[in-house]
Amino acid sequence: MAVVVSSSGNAPAFKAKMTVYVFVCVVIAAFGGLIFGYDIGISGGVTAMDDFLKKFFPSVWEKKQHVHENNYCKYDNQFLQLFTSSLYLAALVASFLASAVCSKLGRKPTMQFASIFFLIGVGLTAGAVNIVMLIIGRILLGFGVGFGNQAVPLFLSEIAPAQLRGGLNIVFQLMVTIGIFIANLVNYFTATVHPNGWRIALGGAAIPAVILLFGSLIICETPTSLIERNKNEEGKEALRKIRGVDDINEEYESIVNACEIASQVKDPYRKLLKPASRPPFIIGMLLQLFQQFTGINAIMFYAPVLFQTVGFGSDAALLSAVITGVINVLSTFVGIYLVDRTGRRFLLLQSSVHMLICQLIIGIILAKDLGTTGTLGKPQALVVVIFVCVYVMGFAWSWGPLGWLIPSETFPLETRSAGFAVAVSCNMFFTFVIAQAFLSMLCGMRSGIFFFFSAWIIVMGLFAMFFIPETKGVPIDEMRERVWKPHWFWKRYMLAEDDHQDVEKRT
Ligand code: BGC
Repeated sequence: MAVVVSSSGNAPAFKAKMTVYVFVCVVIAAFGGLIFGYDIGISGGVTAMDDFLKKFFPSVWEKKQHVHENNYCKYDNQFLQLFTSSLYLAALVASFLASAVCSKLGRKPTMQFASIFFLIGVGLTAGAVNIVMLIIGRILLGFGVGFGNQAVPLFLSEIAPAQLRGGLNIVFQLMVTIGIFIANLVNYFTATVHPNGWRIALGGAAIPAVILLFGSLIICETPTSLIERNKNEEGKEALRKIRGVDDINEEYESIVNACEIASQVKDPYRKLLKPASRPPFIIGMLLQLFQQFTGINAIMFYAPVLFQTVGFGSDAALLSAVITGVINVLSTFVGIYLVDRTGRRFLLLQSSVHMLICQLIIGIILAKDLGTTGTLGKPQALVVVIFVCVYVMGFAWSWGPLGWLIPSETFPLETRSAGFAVAVSCNMFFTFVIAQAFLSMLCGMRSGIFFFFSAWIIVMGLFAMFFIPETKGVPIDEMRERVWKPHWFWKRYMLAEDDHQDVEKRT
């Protein structure tokens, strides 16, 4: 493949081709995303299966028999929600550990650890004979997610040529969406397999975990990570291999430079609290809050439950979830195509308006037509499904992928792994909050939950408009000079840092 990537505009011309090897590395690493997506998608289906409920959550199953009691509250059970959300809590803790492994041992071993955690977790959940085994399995899967989500986006951003970084990084999100979609399909078919369909569904995650484990043997370590750990010659070799050109000196020098600065920072977490780290730090954390408070996971985890709640039969509910899965995958390609062309900001702003309109329409229909115990009429139910799909589309090319891309590309090397770990753990925390609270919120707020998410979408749209700068095409180690220093708001922290350094030099 000989797509020569030349940097344009104000970016320095680091020479690079889009090599086959980089493509292979991207695909293999992104299997980490596929497992994450599979875990997201599988929970909703499994928790809707009677065999599973009868075995582990008999009281929920009892309640489900009286479906007509209340539309919005039938599955509201903290224990059931704990099954879904325990994974995210574990991932939250694991991402800090993963960050240390990522810096000390490299991105590649961190991915290998992830696949091992996944494999043990799959064994325990699919083979569970009691709830303890099930929850421990979920926690190990969570460790896999914490390690995978820490290493993969960083890996992708570091091996990609600057001009293609956005698109290549979004391959991670693409695999997340493929994972969710496959899980939806698996849910659909295993729901009819009695009594062990749920074991097959949970066991399916072993396949991508094995691919990640063996695949990771052939991918390279990132040049940045090698040079950071003083393996300069290996780093140079790796850079030459992934860029597919001989003349890599300029980029090599830029990485060495970044590593020198990074080596002076002994405690990256302390450095994160310094003013100069504030822009990527604040944006990285808020992006996670916003990504989750778009309400996407209310749909992803609980799509079958949600569709059942608004009056679809259980089969139709799973099928609708499969349809949203396909839309999610296809729309991510739009993100891959546009992110390095229109840039990040355009996607964030466009989708805020787009998602807001969808949430409002869904909320209004449910408020008007779905009483507490009634069901939606066919036409209204169809409109709800259509707007859920249109909403998923908007998320899939914006807040979904950019929630991972922007924090992986905006921290300087000295705080990259630590800063990204904080972002990953924030993501897991807010995912946990939604997973744990959504069914109760649905029960308490009813259709109001859609207006709640709408309000958040307005806030995030405004935040993106004023505070998220464009990072398209800017080399990863040049953000400070090219992005933060010229920004109307964030520059104050950069100037404060410059003053501080001047004073330090003088004294
Ligand atoms: C989010 C997940 C979400 C998925 C949906 C990801 O970017 O982090 O929480 O379920 O997108 O496609």
